[in-house]
Amino acid sequence: MDKSKPIIISFGGSLVVPNGGIDSQYLSQFNKFIREKIATGRRFFIVVGGGTLARHYIDAGKNIEGELSDWDLDWLGIHSTRLNAHLIRTIFRDVAHPRIIHDYEKKIENLKEPLVVAAGWKPGFSTDYCAVILGRDYNANIIINMSNITSVYDKDPNKFSDAKPLHNLTWEEFEKLVGTKWSPGSNLPFDPVASKLSKELGMHVYVVGKSLDNLDKILEGKDFLGTVISPS
Ligand code: UTP
Repeated sequence: MDKSKPIIISFGGSLVVPNGGIDSQYLSQFNKFIREKIATGRRFFIVVGGGTLARHYIDAGKNIEGELSDWDLDWLGIHSTRLNAHLIRTIFRDVAHPRIIHDYEKKIENLKEPLVVAAGWKPGFSTDYCAVILGRDYNANIIINMSNITSVYDKDPNKFSDAKPLHNLTWEEFEKLVGTKWSPGSNLPFDPVASKLSKELGMHVYVVGKSLDNLDKILEGKDFLGTVISPS
């Protein structure tokens, strides 16, 4: 994969906070891996999601108050992404740009650091969409979406035991599978709002799990496990 362009990683919050507690062991391995890649000349933008932290807050809001607007639920999610992003920025503090991106209208000028950490922006989408905006603004057309979802399947694997993983598909095919509607805290391979923009911009999005060996294969242009969604 071309080293002159930054790699955008949409780092699912499920990898930071998988089930209520922080996965420090995995984050240590991720920290080491990214630093090794930076040493070889790679540059990264890492957009951090909310994980179960977001879902716990969203569920608590709903349970306590009953009906809440999507706007209110999204803000609970956004603040969760910002806390998780702060942890990621802190573990990379000597190599990361000092400011976490959370207002995507302000572009960083004269970026010097090899790593920038970003978080949720505003209601209506997930950090997947933020990742696509970064790709557009910082001249990258590859996004690696790491989360607890390891592939796109031909049907929902939580409902159908015979669901099959797909290795390649186009944005049109992906849209048919996941639809176009956004709902707060939803757990899809890639958010529908982000997919629409990716299609317009001609992005290539890798949907992969958390394995760092697999991430290495993608960066090195080798066979990998997961799905790549591309322009038709
Ligand atoms: P994400 O959906 O991005 O985190 O944000 P995640 O679930 O950890 O990511 P994946 O699915 O593993 O990749 C959590 C919630 O925060 C709100 C949304 O409600 C989202 O579901 N959010 C996040 C926004 O409203 N706007 C943003 O810019 C980012």
